Amino acid sequence: MPLQLSCTNQTPASLCRQMPVTVPVGKKPSKLPAWVSTLPDDLRGSINAAFRTEGFEGKTGETVIVRCPDSSAILVGTGSERAISAESARKIYGSLILSAAKAKIPHVASPLIGGHDALESAEAATVGSILGNYQFTDFRTDRSKLPVPVQSVTLWEPDANKRRKATTGIESGMVLAEATCRVRDLVNTPSNELNPHKYALIAAKWCDETKIKLQVLGPDEIKRAGMGAVLAVGGGSVNEPRFLIATYTGRKGRAKEVDFALVGKGVTFDSGGISIKPSENMWEMRGDMMGSAVVLSTICAAAKLKLPLNLVALAPLVENMPSGTAYRPGDVVRTLSGQTIEIISTDAEGRLILADALSYAQRFQPKAILDVATLTGAICIALGEVRCGIFTEKDDLARRLDKAAASSGERLWRMPLDEDYDEGLASEVADIKNSGGRYGGASIAARLLRKFTGDYPWVHIDIAGMDLAPKGRPYCPKGATGFGARLVIDFLRQK
Ligand code: BES
Ligand code: MN
Ligand code: ZN
Repeated sequence: MPLQLSCTNQTPASLCRQMPVTVPVGKKPSKLPAWVSTLPDDLRGSINAAFRTEGFEGKTGETVIVRCPDSSAILVGTGSERAISAESARKIYGSLILSAAKAKIPHVASPLIGGHDALESAEAATVGSILGNYQFTDFRTDRSKLPVPVQSVTLWEPDANKRRKATTGIESGMVLAEATCRVRDLVNTPSNELNPHKYALIAAKWCDETKIKLQVLGPDEIKRAGMGAVLAVGGGSVNEPRFLIATYTGRKGRAKEVDFALVGKGVTFDSGGISIKPSENMWEMRGDMMGSAVVLSTICAAAKLKLPLNLVALAPLVENMPSGTAYRPGDVVRTLSGQTIEIISTDAEGRLILADALSYAQRFQPKAILDVATLTGAICIALGEVRCGIFTEKDDLARRLDKAAASSGERLWRMPLDEDYDEGLASEVADIKNSGGRYGGASIAARLLRKFTGDYPWVHIDIAGMDLAPKGRPYCPKGATGFGARLVIDFLRQK
């Protein structure tokens, strides 16, 4: 059962008898909210006592559960911000839900915590709660030792106008959270359960729910289209490649004009191929399709949010495996654009399938192309697990993404794309080679992509460091983060 959220005009004094009411407390020295005085005497006394204990400081996300015979509350720290940001609100709700789940509390009530805008606060509450409540249990037969997910969050708000706005915020928050959870699910799903074929079936199910048209190309159609790079990378596996084309038409009139083409790397497992990876941590490469999951879940979210845009999402899906039919180092691959690429490492496969997909994207004559990919280990070295890297020659695209990072809390850093990095791509036998040394690896990879974007405004997002959270974060449990979907959705829905 997914988490239910609603907004009510019930008072905390009545709610506290049905479920714990959340008491937001700023960093000390601070005061309890005025409405605490309306609560039953015993609960009010216990809240005061918990508030006064030395242990509780009011740090963002800190919680204390207070129980009385017929009522209960949860104190939650809101930190030292005067106006609580959306990001803090998401963290606060994420921590709140996690401590409720650990204490086996199924229902929680809370006032709207956040700035002045009820819509934004409710959206943040929804995103933080659902993402904090996330578990991936598909392959667990014994769930008895796991935290019991929270079933509902009831937000209370006395003002009818704000309540209406909050309800809208809950709706958009649910779409955003679902998009992130879908990316998490696919990244967490092992590759034996998510090959290109099975992946296409899941995408078809998603697209059927909304008015998105999905076209799935199989190996023959990929060959006929001329996507030699996708075929080469996918050729080593018995699980044949697919190429997904999802279209969403949200604009009134001008149905043929495409605003953005979204391209995502979909390597369902990256063994490295003949240039095989070391076995340590190779399992993580089941998540190498994350970029494609981001663009596919994003286009579905755009449809659910009824964004007034026309979008195309493209996802080349392949499994990169070593075998007798695999492509080899030294091979020369002919791409859809006509350019040839000498293969130095079969492990630099993401840029190859993206090269074909970026060429394909130009058929739609989009206003801009955006690609998302777990592309290079080099970006992990540069930015760690904190920010993704973006590469673009267009300052306005960078600015728009910057704003989206600020609102979504999914942070980025603009990386260089100087022509000089092309030196790393010079080949003796073909137009370019697919790998050129370790220094500046993320920029060299981006420069390779640049050769396939024509004159279209384009931005590349390298999310390689962002796939997994090694430890739990406030609204992201350990495991797949789902990073990127909320960033791109906020990019798209910006005014
Ligand atoms: N999928 C990897 C990049 C990656 C690394 C994703 C860590 C997530 C976490 C990519 O296909 C790859 O293997 N890149 C190589 C390229 C090199 C051979 C030029 C890399 O970065 O080491
Ligand atoms: Mn690779
Ligand atoms: Zn890869």
